[in-house]
Amino acid sequence: MVKTEKIDLVKIAGFKKAQRKISALTAYDYSIARLLDESGIDLILVGDSGGNVALGHRNTLPVSMDEMTIFTRAAARAVKRAFLIADLPFGAYQVDPKEAVRNAIALAKAGAEAVKLEGVGYLGPIRAIIKAGIPVMGHLGFTPQSVNELGYHLQGKDPKAAARLMNDAKKLEQAGCFAIVLEMMPPELAKRISRTLKIPTIGIGAGPFCDGQVLVTYDMLGLYPDPPKFVNRYADVAAVIKKAVKKYISEIGNKTYINLSC
Ligand code: KIV
Repeated sequence: MVKTEKIDLVKIAGFKKAQRKISALTAYDYSIARLLDESGIDLILVGDSGGNVALGHRNTLPVSMDEMTIFTRAAARAVKRAFLIADLPFGAYQVDPKEAVRNAIALAKAGAEAVKLEGVGYLGPIRAIIKAGIPVMGHLGFTPQSVNELGYHLQGKDPKAAARLMNDAKKLEQAGCFAIVLEMMPPELAKRISRTLKIPTIGIGAGPFCDGQVLVTYDMLGLYPDPPKFVNRYADVAAVIKKAVKKYISEIGNKTYINLSC
């Protein structure tokens, strides 16, 4: 039985001090969020990856505040124990710090306990959102909202780029972020950043040495047809669904379908 003791910022900071690894997965709806929470996951991220895996976009750029708000509200209705973080989508924090705070507040009202935004270029909005009482998670390395600038490539490979990422991580910590996602960077760099920072790092495609790990749930469950190469698949849920749906279709077709409640 999973303990229902609520995860909060104090516990997350304590996990790093105690060298207790942090588990995180994404959710965009009530049913998946509920399953993750009941399974004992520490952090649930309402990621803008929902733009790919739930909405069918090629990347996260088209995702709107309205869509993130609907995803967040649905997940928040299910979550009892995990700490719920929601992504500020592309366009929600880049233009104006005041608008960034308004958008973070909208996600907090939808049930997010913290928001995540990408890169090191928005320290002003990060500080303003934290000042408004909403914790912020950073995101460095491959940042999907900058895919047109970065391409889908490992970041921080050469010493200069690695030093820049280390410096960026320190800046996000100084700005007040409570944790940072490190995506698609060499494991040794992620290890050095994790050892340097006091706040936890949550890795994705960044090796085993981060303070925690996050994956897109649809990727690790085998639901999304085109996951990144670094994803370990823990189940083939697509095959389970197809088998069940085919059985249902054939029962209807061969007239063996029985509605048990009638
Ligand atoms: O949107 C998302 O799911 C993310 C994770 C990949 C970290 O940002």
